[in-house]
Amino acid sequence: MKEPLPGALGGENETVASSRTLTGKEILELVRADLRKVEEVFSQQSVSNVRPITEIGQYLAVSGGKRLRPALVLLASKFCGFEGPSAVRLAAVVEMIHTATLVHDDVIDEAELRRGRPSTNSRWGNHRSVLAGDWLYMQAFNLALAERNFRILDLLIALTQSMVEGEMIQLTELGKIDMTEDDYLELSYRKTACLFSVCVRLGAVLAGKSEEDETKLGSYGANLGLAFQIVDDVLDFTSTEEKLGKPTGSDLREGKVTLPLIYLLSKCRREEAEKVARVLEERSFRSVRLYEVLELMETYRSLEAAREKARQFAELARSCLAGFPDSIYKDALRSLPDFILERES
Ligand code: IPE
Ligand code: IPE
Ligand code: MG
Ligand code: MG
Repeated sequence: MKEPLPGALGGENETVASSRTLTGKEILELVRADLRKVEEVFSQQSVSNVRPITEIGQYLAVSGGKRLRPALVLLASKFCGFEGPSAVRLAAVVEMIHTATLVHDDVIDEAELRRGRPSTNSRWGNHRSVLAGDWLYMQAFNLALAERNFRILDLLIALTQSMVEGEMIQLTELGKIDMTEDDYLELSYRKTACLFSVCVRLGAVLAGKSEEDETKLGSYGANLGLAFQIVDDVLDFTSTEEKLGKPTGSDLREGKVTLPLIYLLSKCRREEAEKVARVLEERSFRSVRLYEVLELMETYRSLEAAREKARQFAELARSCLAGFPDSIYKDALRSLPDFILERES
């Protein structure tokens, strides 16, 4: 039997106490109205009296990302019992920080496509993109400042530094075939999981939750973020450009040794590892083709092992919710890891 959709913005259905699994659509329904407001705020905030900044800002504001991070802020706030414009503003703040990071990341990676459209750097060049990214970071902080809450600024500043450090470490590690699983997880924490963690923590801070609760929820977010990054790295090998909005095989071509590759290298023979080394050196699939690497991954079940690791982090995320009272929002947070594991884009 088809179950009714839960009411948007917490309606009558909030009292449903028994736990159940929600679909991606049902999770989204809980925050849809607020997400629409987030879009408005993001667009309003992308305006400067310097024309190219506004042009790039508007291009980014309507670029159609998954908006997963703002959804997480909103869900976490509601889960903790907080509703209001501050949650919407902070949801916009995290999406602006995420977007600024992507703008700089695409400059660094010389990426041509993002979200299925020309990246900012390929449209406006590196110089303007770096400046637009800087401006967007500051605009995000300006908006966060409106909360007059040092705890929030603490979280956001530490987060932004951690992400920049992650990108810096990644640059240093680029092309290194001896990357370990621990190195990879540390990097993924900085690049991705830290932001997921902060998104959830912001909800706890807004609701005035105890430090203990904030830490548990932060851990939920971090584990969810690690699962997300691993899935992203698997999809980089298995998906299509059409679905991802960016070319497949990019990580390896850019010299990034991600988890599926680490698992492959830990199992394959020396001459097979040399093939991977050649792609890393050449930064292209010129002498070794992507399908050859994919075949090796099939043989050694490396993608499956990475998926299994993602499942473990998803389970860890879920376990962090133990002890919190039941609600439709708890169901949503409990269901989100599955949605992330099953995502195709
Ligand atoms: C891209 O994140 C950067 C990574 C952490 C891999 P998303 O896949 O969430 O990007 P958008 O916002 O939906 O475009
Ligand atoms: C994206 O990193 C930026 C951050 C998560 C900080 P990547 O370079 O690994 O991801 P894509 O493939 O460009 O989205
Ligand atoms: Mg990149
Ligand atoms: Mg990068």
